[in-house]
Amino acid sequence: MLRGALVALALVASAGLPASSADDVPDAAGDPVRGKAIADLASCASCHTADDGVPYAGGHGIVTDFGTFYGTNLTPDVEHGIGDWTFADFQRAMRHGKGPDGTRLWPAFPFTSFQRIDDRDLHDLWAYLRSLPPSPTENRAHETGRGRWQLRFWRALAFRDRGVFEPDPDATAEENRGHYLVDAIGHCGECHTPRGGLGGLKQRRYLGGSDTEPEPGPNLTPSKAGLGDWTLDDWTTFLELGMTPDGDFVGGQMGRVIEEGTSQLSQEDRRAIGVYLMGIEPVGK
Ligand code: HEC
Ligand code: HEC
Repeated sequence: MLRGALVALALVASAGLPASSADDVPDAAGDPVRGKAIADLASCASCHTADDGVPYAGGHGIVTDFGTFYGTNLTPDVEHGIGDWTFADFQRAMRHGKGPDGTRLWPAFPFTSFQRIDDRDLHDLWAYLRSLPPSPTENRAHETGRGRWQLRFWRALAFRDRGVFEPDPDATAEENRGHYLVDAIGHCGECHTPRGGLGGLKQRRYLGGSDTEPEPGPNLTPSKAGLGDWTLDDWTTFLELGMTPDGDFVGGQMGRVIEEGTSQLSQEDRRAIGVYLMGIEPVGK
């Protein structure tokens, strides 16, 4: 009895997203359950599912200063989805923003952050996408006055390859975990870091607040203009419930990040995010 209860407790305690480390990378087979937790924190479904559409069959419009881009069909349908992709194709899209034939992908797909996701997590994400039912839903054409060829210039001028996340040897394990969740999977910077004229993220003002589409997000750094007065408790409460210290609840895209993402993490992971964000470079007075 007691043993059973202890095992159950241990399972509850380890709920959420177990940490990965370079030592436990399996060769190929990923874990689709873990992959779903990663996909939820990364909001893959929100951009890759039309309103009332089949999950992951594409069609949600992302409005940006450069046009409206539609998330594509990520189900294993061979004709309309990515059924004929290999893991290497997937890895290339996530790490380098390129399709199997070398097509340059639009950065409305936040590969600029996802490129930092480690191999184990990519294998798990892939296993999850492979487990979805195939859907024969055609991709919607993007509405932009620009051509993909222009991405060549964008990549040269505004895209900085930041590489896979490497833990900072001077930071604690908790800070590194928080950094990874924020930067690679949670891609918080895509909405909370300002963008330059070409749409690239201004890393010098990392998480310093953005006023451009798709969704301008406020300054998260520990400054007066940002969230300098938030305590660690404020952070964990916010990430669990979406409530700020003033008692306001966030809505829209951020509400979704909380509901599907951070509220589903373990308390340790929420703490790690808070600890990390309380220690980043302050932006603004
Ligand atoms: C903010 C919106 C957004 C989020 C979040 C997002 N995507 Fe996408 N994704 C897009 C858009 C838009 C495209 C189409 C890019 C293009 O056509 O160049 C895309 C394309 C892709 C592609 C290339 C597919 C193809 O058919 O060419 C893959 C693979 C992909 N996304 C996987 C993911 C995964 C996995 C996640 C979660 C970890 C995710 N995406 C989260 C918007 C998003
Ligand atoms: C898709 C865009 C998007 C992403 C991704 C995103 N946010 Fe947000 N966030 C917003 C927007 C928009 C608001 C303002 C929402 C409101 O006021 O209702 C916001 C609000 C917040 C606030 C409240 C700040 C305040 O002053 O009250 C915090 C804290 C926050 N986000 C943290 C995060 C963290 C941490 C992540 C990554 C795990 C993240 N956000 C990812 C768009 C985003």
